[in-house]
Amino acid sequence: MGLFITFEGPEGSGKSTQARRLYERLQARGYPVILTREPGGTRIGELIRRILIDLRHTEMAPTTETLLFSAARAQLVSELIRPYLATGGIVLCDRYADSTFAYQGYGLGRDLEELQAITRVATGGLTPDLTFYLEVPVEAGLERKRNQGSPRPEGSNPEWNRLDARDLAYHQRVATGFQELMQREPQRWRRLDAMQPLDVLAEAIEAAVEPLLGSIAPLEPA
Ligand SMILES: Nc1ncnc2c1ncn2[C@@H]1O[C@H](COP(=O)(O)OP(=O)(O)O)[C@@H](O)[C@H]1O
Ligand SMILES: [Mg+2]
Repeated sequence: MGLFITFEGPEGSGKSTQARRLYERLQARGYPVILTREPGGTRIGELIRRILIDLRHTEMAPTTETLLFSAARAQLVSELIRPYLATGGIVLCDRYADSTFAYQGYGLGRDLEELQAITRVATGGLTPDLTFYLEVPVEAGLERKRNQGSPRPEGSNPEWNRLDARDLAYHQRVATGFQELMQREPQRWRRLDAMQPLDVLAEAIEAAVEPLLGSIAPLEPA
């Protein structure tokens, strides 16, 4: 029931931008759709997010980090995603479990089988119907992220968080991790060159979603 679509990719690749564009398009076309994000998306999840991204939390153990992401995900799946899919709606999520494998698995070196077990507990096995991978060279993405919004004094960009601040080698391992995840399940992923202009990407994303919309009933006009 419903349709579950996720957006993945490195920092600054345009996930949030494109997830919002698709949300607005589907909504304008009369489809029942919600947009959410990880970590967060629920009251409890947004509190967990604050703990995760806080630049002061340099002492956070990798296990703590992994379990906090998973706790936020468990809340999101049970409070929002599953109930909305059950009504036949479309859920768009800015990051999901693939990010755990890429960031905590390939990035931090956590055991992948262990992560699979934790993820199964958190999601009850819910996987996306379709996942977009927005691909940018790691440095280009970080640069976009750093410059996001209006120019601000050094160190005061609220978009720049604890996870972004990890070194380049870490972000490279994450990107390699995503490539391996895509190779394992090529049918679920759509890889897009995210250096393309926003509008070109938005059109490609909508076109990829189109064949899946047949099973979704548009909302009755109010
Ligand atoms: N295709 C694009 N071309 C140029 N700039 C982009 C593109 N997509 C996003 N951006 C810009 O890059 C920054 C990061 O985008 P964002 O959607 O927040 O990325 P993410 O959510 O993947 O970190 C924003 O300032 C956004 O306007
Ligand atoms: Mg984002």
